[in-house]
Amino acid sequence: MSKNISVVDLFCGCGGLYEGFKQAGFKASVSNDIWEPAFKTFVRNNNSTPFVLGDITDLEIKKKIIQEGKGSKVLIGGPPCQAYSMAGQRNVDDPRGKLFEDYLEIVNNIKPKFFVMENVKGLLSMEHDKQKLNPAEKKELNKIKSLENDKIDLMLKRKQSKNTNKIKFSIKEEEKLEEIKKKLKLLKINTSNLRVKVTETIKKRFLDLGYFVEIKVLNSANYGVPQKRERVIIIGSHNGLNINFPEPVYLERKDTFNEEIFRKNHPNWITVKEAIDDLKNKSEDVSFNHVFTKCGDDFKKKIKNTPIGKSVYGGFSDAYFRCPPDEPSRTVKENHGGVFIHYEKDRFMTPRELARLQSFDDHFIFEGSKSQILVQIGNAVPPKLGYSIAEVLKENI
Ligand SMILES: C[S@@+](CC[C@H](N)C(=O)[O-])C[C@H]1O[C@@H](n2cnc3c(N)ncnc32)[C@H](O)[C@@H]1O
Repeated sequence: MSKNISVVDLFCGCGGLYEGFKQAGFKASVSNDIWEPAFKTFVRNNNSTPFVLGDITDLEIKKKIIQEGKGSKVLIGGPPCQAYSMAGQRNVDDPRGKLFEDYLEIVNNIKPKFFVMENVKGLLSMEHDKQKLNPAEKKELNKIKSLENDKIDLMLKRKQSKNTNKIKFSIKEEEKLEEIKKKLKLLKINTSNLRVKVTETIKKRFLDLGYFVEIKVLNSANYGVPQKRERVIIIGSHNGLNINFPEPVYLERKDTFNEEIFRKNHPNWITVKEAIDDLKNKSEDVSFNHVFTKCGDDFKKKIKNTPIGKSVYGGFSDAYFRCPPDEPSRTVKENHGGVFIHYEKDRFMTPRELARLQSFDDHFIFEGSKSQILVQIGNAVPPKLGYSIAEVLKENI
């Protein structure tokens, strides 16, 4: 198998997905992102890769990407999920809808053999309105949108009320929320013929360009990432090339398995402790992104009183959650700085510890302020997941 298979890397962020592809023998012909801190990190870790910094929907930027990427065998990275919610609208005035149209245009111009996109699991349940609807049908669907908005507002308020005493969520509001959910369920059943699943539109739009698309949810922990991060992986292949997804290698230890066969074929999921324990007494090292977060005495006390498996906010909120050490972590999110609490130390995990939970190697250094680094880490596809996808893709090129 030849080395350095060319790949176009879009929405590349700091380069988590590309890191995995690089390790599997791919080389970027061009990378693109709009965000400068991510660009700086990417370039620091990949200094010879052509990078186009700017908005992919900008005509000049798009032209440059197509020019540099022409002839590439693979294209990785895809637009964020909001882009697909507009996928059925084809409203070029809406920037989110435009993102998907521009992506299609780039794929169609470069014509890679494969493209790989990743997204949140929520994409699978997303729907959009059909295109040709009469006024009465539109009215029905608008009722759903209005109820959805009311539901989101109430759910947000309920969440906030758990985090602060200043916001109260009354029993009446709880009842109203339940009523809205029931109404929504009924309305959705009655209007199911007026809406289409976003994934169906994605498949259809790519089929029009000669790409067959397969979609699967992969759990990062199954590929050696110390994190139970589930992501939707969308693979498109040109002219009927085979599509394969990687088989799980690491598995959750289950008593029902035959111990001998299990141990021989599949190592256990990697745990939080295995991934970061060597860093627990390390002093701060900014150049290694091992940076501590200072907090006031009150908050320190709250951290101290937070047991494993609970959040500082109580309950199961992801923010300031103290992850159990003997299993993979929950999904690493940027959480506006409300990152995980160390399982043993009464402090936040550092960006380096979170990068380890995302399976970044220690030589990968992030650029930017601490909060910008946390966004880059939380946004990234774990390199080890990227590597597993790239390895099977290679076989079919
Ligand atoms: C989920 S992150 C990608 C993470 C990346 N695949 C990785 O593994 O590290 C999405 C990225 O899309 C970029 N982005 C969003 N809108 C964009 C646009 N209009 N043009 C270019 N990049 C954009 C964001 O700056 C962000 O870095």
